Amino acid sequence: MEKVLIIGACSAIAQETAKLFAKDGAALYLADLKKGRLESVKSDILTRYETKIFIEEFDALNFDKHQELIENASKALNGIDIVLIAYGTLPDQTSIQKDYPAILREFNINCVSVISLSSIVANYFEEKQKGTLAVISSVAGDRGRQSNYIYGAAKGGVSVFLQGLRNRMFHSNVNIITIKPGLVDTPMTAHLPKNFLFASAESVGRGIYEAIKLKKDVVYLPWFWKFIMCIVKAIPESLFKKMKL
Ligand SMILES: NC(=O)c1ccc[n+]([C@@H]2O[C@H](COP(=O)([O-])OP(=O)(O)OC[C@H]3O[C@@H](n4cnc5c(N)ncnc54)[C@H](OP(=O)(O)O)[C@@H]3O)[C@@H](O)[C@H]2O)c1
Repeated sequence: MEKVLIIGACSAIAQETAKLFAKDGAALYLADLKKGRLESVKSDILTRYETKIFIEEFDALNFDKHQELIENASKALNGIDIVLIAYGTLPDQTSIQKDYPAILREFNINCVSVISLSSIVANYFEEKQKGTLAVISSVAGDRGRQSNYIYGAAKGGVSVFLQGLRNRMFHSNVNIITIKPGLVDTPMTAHLPKNFLFASAESVGRGIYEAIKLKKDVVYLPWFWKFIMCIVKAIPESLFKKMKL
């Protein structure tokens, strides 16, 4: 039986991944901001599948609690095999780009706290010489654009950090997986007009589950974002800076 810790477990995407692990009979430790939502996610999963689920109210900005979360999960589950870091916030770029404390807060949520947790998890797995850490980054981290460079820079920082961590952890039998979704129809993007590029939380959640099972390194979800981002990254900067993206 696998033992899975999901941080940001109430995310629409993470809930879909959690259901697939529960279907396998994996024991789950779910952490997120609000206890009430965690309780409904837990009961929703338990109405479908029979498994063990623990919950913990957790704010990623509370850095002093990071080590404790991993210890609590390890104790409850009797060890951890897989960790998925899924929480995040998508700020409105124009309303925060001149507000330095707000920029810092977004960086702390989407980058610094993720780096802190990833480091603690990696050290935990390194000691055991096994384990899988999957982190949801974003295609937005592949190139800075005027419409979302604060979020994009935070995700880009996470992606590069994970790249180095993967290289270090390879020698300890620990898998580090970078998940790069494109546009996904979730509460995070509820305010955006939808188009054909939007994927469902269900399909992206399944993609994450499969990437973990297959021990992938970097996955774009859906797969076609790999090609879209190849094109976006290939545009010369002298041209890119003039585009309204
Ligand atoms: N949706 C997309 O198009 C898209 C694209 C690329 C990447 N992603 C990434 O995918 C991941 C999941 O996003 P989603 O679309 O599933 O969004 P979502 O449904 O809005 O879920 C985000 C979750 O993060 C939680 N959260 C926010 N701040 C937190 C904090 N300080 N500590 C702990 N939890 C916190 C939220 O709690 P509350 O709701 O209570 O605030 C919510 O449960 C995120 O990392 C996101 O950046 C999403």
